[in-house]
Amino acid sequence: MDPWFDLPKQLATKVNEAAETVVGAADFSPDIRPADPRFGDFQANGVLPYAKSVRTNPREVATRMVEELEKDDSLAEAVTINIAGPGFINFRLTPAFLLRWLQTYSTEEALRQGAGAFTHGKKVVVDFGSPNTAKQMHVGHIRSIVIGEAICRLLSFCGASVVRDNHIGDWGTPYGKIFYAYKRFLDEDALATDALEELERLYKEGDKITREDPQAMEEARQELVRLQAGDPESTALWERINALSLDALQDVYHRLNVNYDVVLGESFYRDKVETVYRELTDQNIAEESEGALVVFHPEHPRFKSQPFIVRKSDGASNYATHDLATMLYRLEHFQADIIVIVTDSRQEDHFEHLALTTTKWFKKTGRTMPAFHHVTFGTILGDDGKAIKTRSGDPIRLKRLLDEGVERALEVVREKNPDLPPEETRAIGEAVGIGAIIYADLSQNRSSDYIFSWKKLLSLDGNTAPYLQYATARIHSIFRRATPDLAEDPSKATAFETPEELALASKIVAFVAVIQQTTATLRPHFLCIYLYELAGLFSSFYANNRVLVDDESVCQRRLLLCRRVLLILETGLELLSIKTLKRM
Ligand code: ARG
Repeated sequence: MDPWFDLPKQLATKVNEAAETVVGAADFSPDIRPADPRFGDFQANGVLPYAKSVRTNPREVATRMVEELEKDDSLAEAVTINIAGPGFINFRLTPAFLLRWLQTYSTEEALRQGAGAFTHGKKVVVDFGSPNTAKQMHVGHIRSIVIGEAICRLLSFCGASVVRDNHIGDWGTPYGKIFYAYKRFLDEDALATDALEELERLYKEGDKITREDPQAMEEARQELVRLQAGDPESTALWERINALSLDALQDVYHRLNVNYDVVLGESFYRDKVETVYRELTDQNIAEESEGALVVFHPEHPRFKSQPFIVRKSDGASNYATHDLATMLYRLEHFQADIIVIVTDSRQEDHFEHLALTTTKWFKKTGRTMPAFHHVTFGTILGDDGKAIKTRSGDPIRLKRLLDEGVERALEVVREKNPDLPPEETRAIGEAVGIGAIIYADLSQNRSSDYIFSWKKLLSLDGNTAPYLQYATARIHSIFRRATPDLAEDPSKATAFETPEELALASKIVAFVAVIQQTTATLRPHFLCIYLYELAGLFSSFYANNRVLVDDESVCQRRLLLCRRVLLILETGLELLSIKTLKRM
């Protein structure tokens, strides 16, 4: 790979070499970061902490290092260097370098190479979505699905081999109640029309009756016992209910562009729990307490007294047991180097407990602990700042939400462009409506709650999907107008000159660093902010620099900028699972 593709890394190498010569420092860390565009493209912040640690003048160290760096011809061709403040080293990419970079990296394939090399060749299991069966997906479920899918796409883009796993909640106490109600109150027609709706109704019905009537409760309990004992009739019913649920979920996954590689729900692990009990007991990690099998972590402030219950006192396995078995399976079967689980932040304790326990368990049994990331997210709020609900106070159905997004987008499209053929209008409405909902979620730092607002997320200006989709369509239209009588030829382009050209070119090159930041933190909003800023720089470029000018070299370099902005917008939106459009 060309070392100049990954600039932060290349600059770090160069700065390290200079540090080696100037101060002979083995413990010097260059700390390369994107710079404030007023001062440069990148800055090395490492001199200050180094100078402090050896009690010397940072400005002096920086000056000597810059003298050393300037001796390197390849570096001098790529950047101009200056020192700011007490000893920050700033690098500004030269116009000639920018041009060469843009000429070289011309396809999505080219952009993939080396982006975030730290995940390259790694096997990653991503567990996301993972709803419980026999329940509607409501608006809260969307976050795990879209954040998880974006993470999968980003990791694959960076060369990881990704397994998408839907760890459905398909085992446990609710089935007793569902069976009880299913056998008494099933409406076959309703089941055929909307399975999830009907199953959810049955669950609620069963739940209500068993709460009020001890006799019914006992019967539901018997149902559960039969299921857990593997009774064929109960198992068949359980399978039927799961199949119907899963089927009904497909529609939502399809509309959100999600395809799972495997669906290994909790039930898949129910016969894999004996190993967990045995090994945790043999290794003295788990102990009996009041009939249950539990794990304490004496070194942990809370978990020294708050137990991780891995077998209930009635002998049954639970969520924790299944997750422990899941960790083992992902290591042994998938050979996972990295495991990512995406759920809301209320499950933080559970997964911290799980990670601690698994680390000890694998260490004592000579296994390698995969890197484990619990990716959490906040709540979607309504206007009132509380978790979003329908007017009647029920959770909003995800399916309904997606439909409404498309309907609202269609209104906007029809208004803006009344002459499009109906099928195209429909396709645009779908791409914009769904894209807007996905983007509204991904563009927020996932740790925060956010307020859901149709007006904001469908707006054509602001940090929204429609804005970015519109920017993309606009560049397509530039090419539709330009290319009939003009062949693009980047080799005829001359180096960028105007401030807008330079700012835009430098932003394009920054894509690599942004992908790295986004993957390293598993926070898609970094990519969103970048795409939004890129589109903004494109607008001011386009407003101030005519593209189709007579001077061919100028025209070619402006077309080159348009091409690359288009490439990055389309690649970036694709990574977020958002469809792009040729016209809007
Ligand atoms: N079904 C769970 C829920 O709805 C999420 C499962 C997440 N994955 C896991 N391995 N525990 O809360």
